[in-house]
Amino acid sequence: MMDRIINRDALYALRELPYESIHCCVTSPPYYALRDYGLDAQIGRENTPEEYIGRLVEVFREVKRVLRQDGTLWLNISDTYCGTGSKGSYTDPLNPKGRNGQSVSLAHKANGCKKKDLIGIPWMLAFALRADGWFLRSDIIWQKENPMPESIKDRPSRCYEHIFLLAKSKSYYYDATSIAEPIAPSTAARYKAGRGSGKYANGIPGQGKVQSINRPRTAGTFTDADVSPFRNKRDVWLINTVPYKGAHFAAFPPKLAETCIKAGCPEGGIVLDPFFGSGTTGLVAKELDRHYIGIELNSEYCALARARIGGETK
Ligand SMILES: C[S@@+](CC[C@H](N)C(=O)[O-])C[C@H]1O[C@@H](n2cnc3c(N)ncnc32)[C@H](O)[C@@H]1O
Repeated sequence: MMDRIINRDALYALRELPYESIHCCVTSPPYYALRDYGLDAQIGRENTPEEYIGRLVEVFREVKRVLRQDGTLWLNISDTYCGTGSKGSYTDPLNPKGRNGQSVSLAHKANGCKKKDLIGIPWMLAFALRADGWFLRSDIIWQKENPMPESIKDRPSRCYEHIFLLAKSKSYYYDATSIAEPIAPSTAARYKAGRGSGKYANGIPGQGKVQSINRPRTAGTFTDADVSPFRNKRDVWLINTVPYKGAHFAAFPPKLAETCIKAGCPEGGIVLDPFFGSGTTGLVAKELDRHYIGIELNSEYCALARARIGGETK
């Protein structure tokens, strides 16, 4: 059960995993009408956004079944423009026909959209999952300083994607401390000057500091030792894409998987990725002393992931 890569269609592989056996799922499904992963059963080449969303909802219903009651799903997804495909008119000069057969974006029409309209895939999916019983808890913006170049001149270039945090139940495992971020120096100075809250306003207790401060709020009352240097993680994450030399075109950066896994899965727990690709989720899970189960349709990517991560264990 532990540390496995399954070379199969996600839906069918998930159906064979036991109920409530997984701590958290971190994944990035194929985006709509963007890439061709070269196999008939692949998701992302459906004729309409509705069909695409329908297939993903079915897959994530199975993910919900195999998640523990306190489990979470961290779902990375991006949007597509109607009629032009997600890459717009951009062609990589080094790979004009695409790499590894992952060639052109499709130019599907979408109901209610004109050519050039954004379809709104991320929110279509988020609402569909919410309607299917998931608790939609956060829309995290993954911001990139090094986004894919676009040759457009009639709108801003895109530099973010969504990561939806969805939970199986109303209360769930979420380790806020492990992903807390440093407070701004100006905030620390404000607290020390007595203008902060009497408690840790940033909501992150511990971290080797006192848990709360019940002193009068007068200037100069707080010392460095009193002020937690951390605040609760915010919902815009600046993480640059990392060039990956393997043969997979759409790997997400390890830092992204790391943040989700730390918050969503305790040490020794199991992380699932039903669209495993080059296995970034598994690689990071191992580094963080968690176990992983990866599902991937394309056998070449499974081989790539195996080589990248090292041994599987049973
Ligand atoms: C966006 S990529 C995932 C990349 C991955 N996060 C990484 O870091 O390498 C999506 C993956 O889903 C796979 N895929 C497409 N349809 C699938 C299906 N029906 N079942 C399982 N995997 C599928 C594709 O082959 C592709 O590798």
